[in-house]
Amino acid sequence: MTEEAKNVDIVVGPANHLGYSSFQLGGFEFSRDEYFVHIKWPKGKHVMEIDRFLRAMVRDIGWGFFYGWIFFDDVFGTHNHYGTVDIFAGAYDEGCKAAGIDYLETFTSDSVSKGFETISKNWINEGYDPLNAPMETGSPMGEKTRESDKPLLRNFIAAKRMLGLKGDVAVRSDETGHPINRAFADVPVDNPDIEVEPGFEGQLHAINLFDHIARSDVTWNPSISSATRNSLCCVTSEEHMLPVIHGNDRNEWFFQLSDEIHWKVQDKNTGRPRGIIVMKAGDVCAMPADIRHQGFSPKRSMLMVMENASPDLPELYASGKLAPYPIEF
Ligand code: PHB
Ligand code: FE
Repeated sequence: MTEEAKNVDIVVGPANHLGYSSFQLGGFEFSRDEYFVHIKWPKGKHVMEIDRFLRAMVRDIGWGFFYGWIFFDDVFGTHNHYGTVDIFAGAYDEGCKAAGIDYLETFTSDSVSKGFETISKNWINEGYDPLNAPMETGSPMGEKTRESDKPLLRNFIAAKRMLGLKGDVAVRSDETGHPINRAFADVPVDNPDIEVEPGFEGQLHAINLFDHIARSDVTWNPSISSATRNSLCCVTSEEHMLPVIHGNDRNEWFFQLSDEIHWKVQDKNTGRPRGIIVMKAGDVCAMPADIRHQGFSPKRSMLMVMENASPDLPELYASGKLAPYPIEF
């Protein structure tokens, strides 16, 4: 599968009557109208709301295709092989497979990133940011106006030292210009007391993580807040629905820091329902390695995600050498 990855440029077609170009990447064709994206492949075609498509696509690019599978909806998505990426349609949907219209093509990661970036830039108008919560941005619908000049992705600001210690490159949260989000107006944002033993001044610090997350202007976009070898701790603010359905190639842990998220959990390969998890503030759960899941956050909430980024894990789970869940009860 990964041997014959196509390293191709996306082909840009002429603009339609609404001003949007159509595109071809390998066997896939993409076009949009005022409300929908239309995706075609050799044996089939599919239609999806444009908002859902763009919110999924910018995250897929920004996350470097993430861990495992990113389903834009039940039919269309990507599968990360870390260097190469499958784009699939219907390949993990029982109905599409039974009808023989499923399709999968493998590309270099670079081809897909560049291709998806080209589509997103052409289709995102000024005033619409797919990383914002739907109530905090404009609409992606309608004819083309002006391409947004906002960056498509948010670059991480990497800290060199603990945030707040002299010499770190990250700006203090109260100096970023990012206001506390409307939904977190009641969150205490006082700073922790720090009592340093003599001789350790300037080496120990602490921040209020709630204050940090409360100022995020994006949703469903985890940022790495600490890394210990392959163990990554990511925090994120969530509102409305996770714009992708994530299929795991490893376990991941969720810590609900505030409010509530409802997770729909399905079998990874077939999409059959496996369960619903309602996580309330303080709840912790592990998402197993053999499922796909999508979160729904009725009110903006704070979530911490722990990922083990070890490159050996997908093979260990896929071969059954590791059980798909972390604990045997
Ligand atoms: C996930 O797929 O596990 C995920 C993705 C984005 C988030 C939170 C969780 O913001
Ligand atoms: Fe996930």
